[in-house]
Amino acid sequence: MDCLWHASVIALVLLFLGGSDANPAARRHGQLDVNHKKQPLQTSRPYNIAHRGSNGEIPEETSAAYLRAIEEGADFIETDILASKDGHLICFHDVTLENTTDIGNRTEFAARKRTYEVQGANMTGWFVVDFTLRELKSLRVKQRYDFRDQQYNWKYDILTFDEFILIALHADRVVGVYPEIKSPIFINQHVKWSGGKKFEDKFVETLLKYGYKGKYMSEDWLKKPLFIQSFAPTSLIYISNMTNAPKLLLIDETTVPTQDTNQEVRNWDWAMEGYNHSPRE
Ligand SMILES: *[C@@H]1O[C@H](CO)[C@@H](O)[C@H](O)[C@H]1NC(C)=O
Ligand SMILES: *[C@@H]1O[C@H](CO)[C@@H](O)[C@H](O)[C@H]1NC(C)=O
Ligand SMILES: *[C@@H]1O[C@H](CO)[C@@H](O)[C@H](O)[C@H]1NC(C)=O
Ligand SMILES: *[C@@H]1O[C@H](CO)[C@@H](O)[C@H](O)[C@H]1NC(C)=O
Repeated sequence: MDCLWHASVIALVLLFLGGSDANPAARRHGQLDVNHKKQPLQTSRPYNIAHRGSNGEIPEETSAAYLRAIEEGADFIETDILASKDGHLICFHDVTLENTTDIGNRTEFAARKRTYEVQGANMTGWFVVDFTLRELKSLRVKQRYDFRDQQYNWKYDILTFDEFILIALHADRVVGVYPEIKSPIFINQHVKWSGGKKFEDKFVETLLKYGYKGKYMSEDWLKKPLFIQSFAPTSLIYISNMTNAPKLLLIDETTVPTQDTNQEVRNWDWAMEGYNHSPRE
């Protein structure tokens, strides 16, 4: 009880300090740089993570879905990162566009349909990696499922990773980000960056550009909370010397192979040697 009381007094004091700046332009700028003037991330109970935003109400991974999630109290907003043909990072779940955009109605792109091998299976559709950011931005997003509210269809566009981060940073309290390095093998096969950079390099560079760094619960981390997630263990290992932010390895059904090393989790006893000592002890 005492602790809670202290926490709320500190939050109030911080809010008051935040509101005392007379220069609105400086305050706007300061809000981005100085997250510590805001109500801090709560750390006393499990985190509430808004998976793809408030996507039960508003089409997934759109600005409106994330803003709604923040309004509803999310501690973190979650997203999937993919890349456009010209190397821009976008927030989008599927490697193809048809289930959540109007691509099927866009006759100018009809001839862009392709078949590619994705994680060991052939897939046919309109792939994000065959469209520039400008083209992707011209598409409109819709609900994935018919049983959800359809009234927000065609109102929003695809977000970039930068735009997603700015939504979190502009929230009026500290809201963390929870991005996934999605389908990295496929993305690195189809998208090339200058200087031999890989998808994972661009991903971490984007986070560092906005000041996301630090170990879990460190002062830096609490200002800009971040969890990096991936189903691909090699991507997490690759970025391990680029950022000390917490990284989570996602695990599917134990029989589903990982996105990169083609391992089944049920066989990981040997594969993850060295990583699993503490749980055993
Ligand atoms: C698109 O939706 C269909 C029907 O629900 C599903 O079978 C398919 O796997 C989805 N495609 C992607 C890329 O998720
Ligand atoms: C095409 O547009 C119509 C009319 O707006 C809409 O009902 C339909 O769902 C759209 N189809 C696709 C694949 O976007
Ligand atoms: C995908 O299609 C190509 C061309 O038809 C074929 O050579 C390849 O074996 C297929 N891959 C899989 C995983 O089925
Ligand atoms: C991370 O390690 C790799 C190989 O071990 C090295 O090539 C790369 O330069 C390192 N990156 C950083 C940022 O230290």
